[in-house]
Amino acid sequence: MSICVCGGAGYIGSHAVRCLFDHGLDIIVIDNLSKGHRLSVDPNIPFYQGDLRDRVFLDKVFSENKIEGVIHFAADSLVGESVLEPLKYYQNNVMGTLTLLEVMNQHKVKTIIFSSTAATYGEPVSTPILEEDPTIPTSPYGESKLAVEKLLKWCDHAYGIKYIALRYFNVAGAHPSGDIGEDHQPESHLIPLILNVALGKSPSLKIFGTDYPTKDGTCIRDYIHVMDLAEAHFLALNKVQETRQSKIYNLGNGQGYSVQEVIQTARKVTGHPIPTLSIERRPGDPAILLASSQKACDELGWKPQYFELSTIIQSAWAFHQKHPNGFSD
Ligand code: UFG
Repeated sequence: MSICVCGGAGYIGSHAVRCLFDHGLDIIVIDNLSKGHRLSVDPNIPFYQGDLRDRVFLDKVFSENKIEGVIHFAADSLVGESVLEPLKYYQNNVMGTLTLLEVMNQHKVKTIIFSSTAATYGEPVSTPILEEDPTIPTSPYGESKLAVEKLLKWCDHAYGIKYIALRYFNVAGAHPSGDIGEDHQPESHLIPLILNVALGKSPSLKIFGTDYPTKDGTCIRDYIHVMDLAEAHFLALNKVQETRQSKIYNLGNGQGYSVQEVIQTARKVTGHPIPTLSIERRPGDPAILLASSQKACDELGWKPQYFELSTIIQSAWAFHQKHPNGFSD
């Protein structure tokens, strides 16, 4: 029996595939390679290139393999882009998952781990954010993920498909080998953009807003290492298979760092001065996003290993130095 990883060639998916493989699981990967990289997946792992909205393709994959569960990463995930192109986000994130669930149901696959996001909360009502806090997304991206969480709830009710939805905070870092890491084209995330400056690929880092109500005026985020996140998927899969109970968990470290603190830490790690340029706020950025992951720690037995910001940046830096042009090197 295999675990089907959808979006397994993407940044988070490829790290999860490594983690699950190292735990000895049989895996197959589906990815349309719209953003993922074929090179990020071990050539020994069965790989199917195709889109989740292609029912004929999905049906073939589910017919050819004995699939016992699905881990679903495949999605568009840029908040800003989603505001400009909401139809793209509903089409890919909601329609893709809808088709996946239809095919899962048809093939009697009753377990799914779903990549959700802190963006389901919108502007937090209190800090740290708890799973039961209000979910009022401020972007189509967050709305699309929340729509899927609700769809999952009803699929559990009607068909007995059990799920764990994991609401990620700010994922960063790379596999300790430096072989795989974050390679988005174009890049929009803070840590890889800072490291591009350290690599000499861009002259300075633009800081989006220095007038937030935080200690140094820049946004505070909760950074979680991608391998800790990957391990949480393994634990979640075991948990839902064992208990047959659907759940939602936050995944962050519960420690907030401002944009200025991230830059300062990256200066220490890379030895580069990393010049900055302060510009206006980026629309839709909440001032502070900080998770309580107590529920995941208590119920899944999750224990982040790489919680130091310097360790997270160090691992990303190792990947960026080894692959200055990402997977095209
Ligand atoms: N930032 C800059 N300059 C940059 C890039 C980012 O100052 O060039 C700042 C942002 O304004 C933000 C922080 O760095 O304050 C982190 O930004 P990222 O783009 O790296 O990440 P986000 O916080 O926007 O995104 C994260 C997750 C999303 C989730 C979102 C919820 O990656 O999946 O939080 O708001 F939807």
